[in-house]
Amino acid sequence: MDLFEYQARDMFEAHGVPVLPGEVITDASEAEAVASRIGADSGGVVVVKAQVKTGGRGKAGGVKLAKSAPEAATAASEILGMDIKGHTVHRVMIAAGAEIDQEYYFSLLLDRSQRTLLAMCSREGGVEIEKLAVERPEALARVHVDPLVGIDAEVAARITAEAGFEEEERDAIAEVLQHLWRVYEQEDATLVEVNPLVRTADGSIIALDGKVSLDENADFRHEDHADLADQGASDPLEARAKEKDLNYVKLDGNVGIIGNGAGLVMSTLDVVAYAGHDLGEQDGVTATPANFLDIGGGASAQVMTDGLDIIHSDEQVRSVFVNVFGGITACDEVANGIVGALEQLGDSAYKPLVVRLDGNNVEEGRRILSEADHRLVTLADTMDGAARQAAELALNPSR
Ligand SMILES: Nc1ncnc2c1ncn2[C@@H]1O[C@H](COP(=O)(O)OP(=O)(O)O)[C@@H](O)[C@H]1O
Ligand SMILES: [Mg+2]
Repeated sequence: MDLFEYQARDMFEAHGVPVLPGEVITDASEAEAVASRIGADSGGVVVVKAQVKTGGRGKAGGVKLAKSAPEAATAASEILGMDIKGHTVHRVMIAAGAEIDQEYYFSLLLDRSQRTLLAMCSREGGVEIEKLAVERPEALARVHVDPLVGIDAEVAARITAEAGFEEEERDAIAEVLQHLWRVYEQEDATLVEVNPLVRTADGSIIALDGKVSLDENADFRHEDHADLADQGASDPLEARAKEKDLNYVKLDGNVGIIGNGAGLVMSTLDVVAYAGHDLGEQDGVTATPANFLDIGGGASAQVMTDGLDIIHSDEQVRSVFVNVFGGITACDEVANGIVGALEQLGDSAYKPLVVRLDGNNVEEGRRILSEADHRLVTLADTMDGAARQAAELALNPSR
């Protein structure tokens, strides 16, 4: 999960990273009061910043300096509602204005290819770091960080030295890097980026911008992280699926997909898209996948019911393709799951289901489904054949 800048700012503060006062608002009418409070110690100067989960807000006009509270109100009303790279601005942060002397760059992230962490640091921050990395790679220090050691005083000293900071500046920056390490470690982040990390006119080092991605696999350790989720942004069906612990992603098509194992579900999306393309458009409709849904190993009746229920709630769905490869959960259990789910759903299930089973105990699984002889269920032998049938049913649901 990626955080908004203001959430990263609060997290930084909680772990001792120096930040400036800032407050988030959703309505321009609140701006004047907040700006006079926030700007009290910075000569009335504040910065109004769009809170959207994308970079380059400054360039897009989403970061505006205001020299007074009324100016801040004008800036807030200009920025709220703005579109930045496809993200609508619903909130702005009003932050104290910094007197910037130098802009630096720092990030710490998971380096999957090297199976370790990577710190990147540069004296040339504020700019697009991807561009710097390509055009002047020597200006960007890259130091691998052992996750078991983290950024201690020694590692921090190495990073600041490799980035080429002046001797007298290194200690102050190294100190901040150690606090940023605490954010990374204690919050279970996969990315902590500060661009720019600034030196102000009075010599303090401050994180002026912050980007944090959290590792959702560690959510069980962080009850408070649930509050950071952007409720407004998630699709209502996805939110419901999440409550049921289903691995569901809403797409735009009309063939609902249920499978077990992320790889199998991904290839199921492909074969359905292919079949839909092959069948072409009929009455303005093309068959395409409506969702990703991986029911994982335990395809119990309850998981099937929850999955089918979510898919039935998607009004765009006209047929459903259940593609299961029996492994530890054998095909007979899956078949019983499907029969049980259809029983539980009763009349609320009305979309045709094409079921393809293979793998462990497939004969028994097929026998159970044939015997149940449910009005909505069609058994298919192959994955391609099943995809084609499901796609045809999406084009002509009444068949
Ligand atoms: N509180 C602040 N005070 C003064 N200048 C700021 C402040 N916050 C940001 N800026 C300036 O605006 C630029 C862009 O802001 P930033 O938060 O980095 O957004 P983005 O990276 O999305 O463009 C910074 O590089 C900095 O020069
Ligand atoms: Mg930035």
